[in-house]
Amino acid sequence: MNAAIRAITRKAIHEGFSVYGIERGFEGIINSEIRPLHARDVGGIITTGGTILRTARYPEFKNLDVQQRAYRILQDFGINHLIVIGGDGSQAGAEALMRLGQSTITIPCTIDNDMNGTQYTIGFDTALNTVVDAVGRIRDTSNSHERVAIIEVMGRHAGHIALQAGLASGAELVLVPEYPMPLDEVCEHINKTHQLGKEYSIILVAEGAYSSGEVKEYIKQHTYFDPSLTVLGYLQRGGAPSALDAILAARMSELAVDCLVRGEHNCITGYVDGQIRAIPYENAKTMKFGIDKSQYELISILSH
Ligand code: F6P
Repeated sequence: MNAAIRAITRKAIHEGFSVYGIERGFEGIINSEIRPLHARDVGGIITTGGTILRTARYPEFKNLDVQQRAYRILQDFGINHLIVIGGDGSQAGAEALMRLGQSTITIPCTIDNDMNGTQYTIGFDTALNTVVDAVGRIRDTSNSHERVAIIEVMGRHAGHIALQAGLASGAELVLVPEYPMPLDEVCEHINKTHQLGKEYSIILVAEGAYSSGEVKEYIKQHTYFDPSLTVLGYLQRGGAPSALDAILAARMSELAVDCLVRGEHNCITGYVDGQIRAIPYENAKTMKFGIDKSQYELISILSH
């Protein structure tokens, strides 16, 4: 997020805009936490995780009267264009303000990689690399102790992190919400891989697929394995952005500001087939990039 804040600020100043930062997202609009951002304010943050502007969950923004209040506050501050950096909830907020007349652009940014209209969201690659690193470390212990390791990863309702991390780290099994696998099959699978001579197994559980505690208990009760459980949690949401994420942030921010210069708005900066494009919100809704079944199957093939 910081890499995007830096890039938007400096590119917009370069194009002659005055830039304001809103603290704590939509809640910050309601609380008028809006302050000028200058080029020097965003110095030294490109490699810092998180957001200097802070962020907040703000379910109240679903209410029309709150949206109307926010719109009026933005008008009072003279905010002509609002660039929202966030996931699908943030995009929904941007679209609500658009319906009231606000010009908006959404830069897709979530570790979940689950937004329509883009194949990559800022943050996903960084989280993925963090998970792969963590799995490698857990593998060392599982291997030495000959244990089954269950590792829960984030992703909300999507299995992108689990799937890609599974492929990159050589997991035996990945449980994702998109392809539900009954727990008796999970046991069967580990039994089978152990019969093939494997002394330990790595199972990645996407948080949207199962409660990882339930998976651990089921395996314990139905096999002779006693799995360890690691919940990676917020570890996945911090740290310096990967080069890919930092570059994506720079390029998506550049496009967002270029759109405003051209008079285009109410779109997301989507990454599709190697190109970053401005995609109107309406079109983005029809562009769904789910997880790839063949990649899911490949994990199983490679685990034998
Ligand atoms: O959407 C990003 C995300 O990190 C999800 O992967 C996760 O389910 C959620 O946010 C956690 O957010 P919170 O801490 O607010 O529950």
